[in-house]
Amino acid sequence: MGRIRREDALVLAHYYVPDAVQAAADFVGDSFALAQKAVASDKPVIVFCGVTFMGESAKILCPEKQVYLPVPDAHCAMADMASEEEILHMRESIEDLAVVTYVNSSARLKALSDVIVTSSNAVKVVSRLKEKNIYFIPDKNLGRYVAAQLPEKNFYFGWGCCPIHNATSLNEIAAAKEAHPGALLLAHPECPGEVCAQAAYVGSTAGIIAYAQKSAEKEFLVGTEAGTLYELSRRCPEKKFYPTRPDFLCADMKKITLEAIERIFAGEGTPLEVEPVVAEKAARALKRMLELAQ
Ligand code: 13P
Ligand code: SF4
Repeated sequence: MGRIRREDALVLAHYYVPDAVQAAADFVGDSFALAQKAVASDKPVIVFCGVTFMGESAKILCPEKQVYLPVPDAHCAMADMASEEEILHMRESIEDLAVVTYVNSSARLKALSDVIVTSSNAVKVVSRLKEKNIYFIPDKNLGRYVAAQLPEKNFYFGWGCCPIHNATSLNEIAAAKEAHPGALLLAHPECPGEVCAQAAYVGSTAGIIAYAQKSAEKEFLVGTEAGTLYELSRRCPEKKFYPTRPDFLCADMKKITLEAIERIFAGEGTPLEVEPVVAEKAARALKRMLELAQ
């Protein structure tokens, strides 16, 4: 492979990657905004600074583009927390069922799904499905958060979760509140339900940032990966943000480095490929999300 010209590439980054990588990207966003940017781009190359499922989704939605992951072994721990057997069993057992899969999942799981959701569009997308019964995988916490807002639907949940968000406890929140009395709690819906119940706002990373920016409050406890504090502090330099615990970190997101990005531009990377049968089926579920989320 020859060198890749910088002007031929769109560099996308998630809010959880290291600050220096966010600073070097063309666009930083939540999972949904990043997928939309990938689709809207007219550049032939996408360098996706995030975990595997993010690059895979971009490749599936934009098969004509070359998509590179700077660190191909940076994986989301939740991406395989559901199985084909479980999905087939649910399809056989429950009538009028939609299999709704969180975007934090492998391409293989997406290919077995009716529709994909992200944390920022899940309530809207599921509310627009005609099916009464919803099998929500893999994230049980996000699933329960969505279900609480859609009492007209009947939900079945998978068993998966993000180990990093799911580790957030009421004790942790109590200690953070004691250390920063008066700070408003903002939480990602991957956190356990009892934590979300205490939050002033629950939403995606982009939702948390937008809420903090608009809020009249000056201090916030941030219940999501600490990389989000970079954009929060950049947009709101006069406000104070504290992670609910100092090690609220996704080790895989933190694997992405400027050096790894440079290697892609030096022509040392391998473009991402998704098995064509898997890609074709997963594309249907991802495109359905894009339609229903409008
Ligand atoms: P967002 O889509 O809210 O950015 O979340 C992605 C993620 O991986 C959360 O852990
Ligand atoms: Fe996956 Fe959790 Fe990391 Fe998000 S924070 S990418 S859900 S492991």
